[in-house]
Amino acid sequence: MKALKIGNLLAPVPIVQGGMGVGISLSGLASAVAEQGGIGVISSAGLGAIYNDYSKDYRKASIWGLREELRKARERTRGIIGVNVMVAMSNFADM
Ligand SMILES: Cc1cc2nc3c(=O)[nH]c(=O)nc-3n(C[C@H](O)[C@H](O)[C@H](O)COP(=O)(O)O)c2cc1C
Repeated sequence: MKALKIGNLLAPVPIVQGGMGVGISLSGLASAVAEQGGIGVISSAGLGAIYNDYSKDYRKASIWGLREELRKARERTRGIIGVNVMVAMSNFADM
């Protein structure tokens, strides 16, 4: 398989792992994919529910959770990590 080049990034394994919300593709899966040379994707969908001990405000908890997941992913890999943010259907007024 040919490496996948996106801008200045080069993934030796041309696989982009799909973002899967509600706790499925978080730092664990994404960093494992990135460590193997693919592109690991953290889904932001549902982070506000997963991190609701940080805040009962769903948006604040989501932002906190995404930072946490990115931090944890970076502890595990220097490979390529992407973030999946589904804003097309909701919350667009906040952006
Ligand atoms: C359990 C599950 C959760 C998913 N959550 C998201 C999500 O949060 N964001 C998103 O863009 N796609 C989500 N998807 C869609 C996948 O990322 C992917 O686009 C879809 O499974 C089709 O992949 P394929 O084209 O490789 O078959 C989810 C899929 C599954 C199975």
